[in-house]
Amino acid sequence: MRDSYGREIDYMRISVTDRCNLRCRYCMPDGIDWIPMKEILTFEEIVRLCRVAVALGITKYKITGGEPLVRRGCSALVRLIREIPGVEQVTMTSNGILLERYLGELLDAGLTDINVSLDTMEREKYREITGFDELPQVLRSIEAASTAGLRVKINVVLQEGLNAEAWDGLLSFAREGLADVRFIELMPIGHGADGQMLSNEILFRKIEQRHGTLTADRVSHGNGPAVYYRIADWPRSVGFISAIHGKFCGHCNRLRLSSTGRLKPCLCYEDSLDMRGALRDGSDAEVCEVLKKAILKKPRMHCFEDTGAVTERQEMAKIGG
Ligand code: GTP
Ligand code: 5AD
Ligand code: SF4
Repeated sequence: MRDSYGREIDYMRISVTDRCNLRCRYCMPDGIDWIPMKEILTFEEIVRLCRVAVALGITKYKITGGEPLVRRGCSALVRLIREIPGVEQVTMTSNGILLERYLGELLDAGLTDINVSLDTMEREKYREITGFDELPQVLRSIEAASTAGLRVKINVVLQEGLNAEAWDGLLSFAREGLADVRFIELMPIGHGADGQMLSNEILFRKIEQRHGTLTADRVSHGNGPAVYYRIADWPRSVGFISAIHGKFCGHCNRLRLSSTGRLKPCLCYEDSLDMRGALRDGSDAEVCEVLKKAILKKPRMHCFEDTGAVTERQEMAKIGG
């Protein structure tokens, strides 16, 4: 279905939990008050929503969190959504800690792609950013997933004064062929507003200075806003998610569902619709109505460049990135 600006909405991000086994500084450094399970959508409710959404043309799904793999049975959900006729793709964004443990189940369930969040290759820095000494496990997971045939992309958020120099170490994944590497500009959402964003424009020039020309890579690597480039002879790509400096809203294709069933038209604003009520008390037609309303309420663009106008105040973990 098209929104009021003519954009085709065919992708939904589904947060299955607000819980996480890390405490990233820009996300939930102090943890959050856990939401009781009865307020969280059940897998049956999520699958029912997806069935209705497919009929509207939403055929691509991203499972997010918090950390999605801390929710028990997450691979079963991947399978259930994958099995809905008309669903084209189910992918996931994870911090990678539990990925090695669940890899077999996830592949079996039909997961094809996974994005792993990793902001440094230095063990002590990783502990400083996330609160936990889990870098070796994340690296094992990435290696195992890539070797097993999952398409892996690394999500990197660089911050001035914290990990601004980490980009070159992280590029080794693209150089060695294990994964694409994507640099995301820090957005002023939740604790993201406390950090200092590093511009992708500046980073782009630094990468070219060090490694030579970045050539546009037109091959599709997913359904998100990243723009990809290649460095000569490197087997994998380098992507940029320029949330602040590159307004990609003209190509926006998505809705976001929180773990409690709030349906968000845009990441930047607090507006959301109550999908849980429709799923618990309503017919499929009512569920469809909420979906349509959310699509039609999508704004033309975000306003991250004007921090004062951003109305979303929740932590990223509650929204699902
Ligand atoms: P694929 O490319 O298909 O893997 O999807 P993706 O890039 O959308 O997924 P991922 O969960 O890895 O998100 C990467 C980053 O892009 C996160 O920081 C998201 O918050 C950000 N992002 C995803 N969608 C949007 C969007 O609609 N608007 C903005 N501003 N940022 C987004
Ligand atoms: N700005 C940009 N990206 C963020 N992420 C979490 N918080 C922010 C923020 N404020 C990223 C994580 C993860 C993805 C889902 O969102 O690093 O890779
Ligand atoms: Fe957890 Fe991801 Fe938030 Fe880090 S960014 S605390 S890994 S949900």
